[in-house]
Amino acid sequence: MLPLTDIEISLAADTVRRDGGLDDGAWFETISLSESHARDRAPRHAYVCCYEPCSNRTFAGLVALEDGKLLDWRHIEDVQARIIPDEFAAACEIARNDPDFIAALKRRGIDDPSWVLIESWAAGNFGIPSEQGRRLALGHCWLMNEAGDNPYARPIANLHPLFDLAAGKIIRIDDYGTVPIPPDPGPIRRDEQRDDLKELSITQPDGPSFTVDGFNIRWQNWNMQVGYSVREGLVLYDIGYEDQGRLRPIMRRASMAEMVVPYGDPRGANYRRNAFDTGEYGIGVALDSLKLGCDCLGYIHYFDVWSHDWHGKPRLIENAICMHEEDFGILWKYSVPSRAQTTVTRSRRLVISSLASIGNYIYGFFWYFYQDGSIGVEVKATGIPFPTGIARGQDSAYGTIVAPGIESHVHQHVFSFRFDMAVDGDRNTVTEVNFEAAPLDADNPHGNAILTRETTLASETSAQREIDFASARYWKVINPNVTNSFGKPVGYKLVPGANALPFQHPDSALGRRAGFMYKHMWVTQYAPDELFSAGWFPNQHPGGDGLPNWVKADRPLENQDIVVWYTMNYHHLPRPEDWPVQPVVYANFHWVPSGFFDENPAMDVPRRE
Ligand code: CO
Repeated sequence: MLPLTDIEISLAADTVRRDGGLDDGAWFETISLSESHARDRAPRHAYVCCYEPCSNRTFAGLVALEDGKLLDWRHIEDVQARIIPDEFAAACEIARNDPDFIAALKRRGIDDPSWVLIESWAAGNFGIPSEQGRRLALGHCWLMNEAGDNPYARPIANLHPLFDLAAGKIIRIDDYGTVPIPPDPGPIRRDEQRDDLKELSITQPDGPSFTVDGFNIRWQNWNMQVGYSVREGLVLYDIGYEDQGRLRPIMRRASMAEMVVPYGDPRGANYRRNAFDTGEYGIGVALDSLKLGCDCLGYIHYFDVWSHDWHGKPRLIENAICMHEEDFGILWKYSVPSRAQTTVTRSRRLVISSLASIGNYIYGFFWYFYQDGSIGVEVKATGIPFPTGIARGQDSAYGTIVAPGIESHVHQHVFSFRFDMAVDGDRNTVTEVNFEAAPLDADNPHGNAILTRETTLASETSAQREIDFASARYWKVINPNVTNSFGKPVGYKLVPGANALPFQHPDSALGRRAGFMYKHMWVTQYAPDELFSAGWFPNQHPGGDGLPNWVKADRPLENQDIVVWYTMNYHHLPRPEDWPVQPVVYANFHWVPSGFFDENPAMDVPRRE
């Protein structure tokens, strides 16, 4: 569905300013396309969420974009809107002017607070009575270095101002004791650069093989539409494959719906360190403007998108989404020695991607479409691993010493992807496939038999699953109403890649708020408001919302309109080689046709002999 235009964003903001009954100091957390209206192909509506600092209240509702009417506008009780960049900047200034904070810096030998960077992180909800009902952020502090290109190189460990963002003041300074500030490491950018790299250019003299019409894309039988929201960033709609002149739907909507990064150090205030980057800050607002030859190489088509600032003013992110083709090695090959015949085809993939810069870290979200009908989903992570200070000579109990006086703690990056499935139509069923060794008996005298066990996940209670590499487990979304030429239901299988489970106790404050991360695969019956895995308002939420809450209904899933949620957990104990800047790490999984086609759909890719 087409993302909101600048005109639509302005109309929505003006409508809320006029009819929303808000104080002048209120700001806009979100102005995005209303997904449920878009899915119903109804007239377009904008979803709008605002925060009013003077009353510490969050409001949300819809604006009908046809006639500018405000609908369903209400105060959402006991929630906090996402934290916005203006609040980060304001908190930093508050701390730099606070006498108690200045005193805490002096105890550490820091006389000039203007050299101190204070990043305010969402404070979570740890049930502390004095923190309830306030809009909070917890500060993490660094002494900026002289080169200025690594503000995180000199952590001021154990010093955490707690901000009331609505009141614009520090309500408490948590000081767990002084740790020596690490020495200034100098600039990240080195003068000495290797000089043995010859130019590598990627040219497509005849242009790319895709065609683009606005946000609609056609490439190698694939059809889809690119979309965007300020919360999730890149969204894909109406992914389908043209098969013998017929456009066959696969997914209605695909996105990275939520993510959380829990850290594993229990000491000081480090237990509070975790980030729901989507629900607490927003991925879409943080998208980079990509640069040709730097972020992207080759023949690139860029999509610009309209975000907005906190006054509701449209803000264009140029080159927010990148699309290009990549050579991907061999697609298929066979040899017939008796005829001295070898046939090979080259694989090519379509790449649609975006990068989000959030504080010290950068996440890339990459979607790959292949000529064999597969879809790859990959997250790339780079940036500066979150550092804290440690006394020289001490070893790190919960992390790695990455530089003199700096440790970086063990953590996980947990991504929750949401797939509104439509394999050859909206009515789908999910099965789980496991393989097992048959017993040694009369039917299996040589002990080689492999049994395929396919089980239907009939309802939401049974459809909460974990990966099992030992049984080669995968999940298959089938359409029981459509069969292939072998009489089997057509389907796509979800093939996990490397993954992990969380180590946070399920009853911990973070565990309750991120219940989605305890299962790798969830299936729900489609419901218009079930978009975000930890609920709509994870910031300071006490927990229990989102997937674990919705599946209590135990709705039936057989031959239903279903949504598949996949949790991908990248477990990360930082290495010295992740410092000062972490080389990109990759985490991925795939959707692969499984009986969707009657044969390899790429037999018509031109041969090379
Ligand atoms: Co990491």
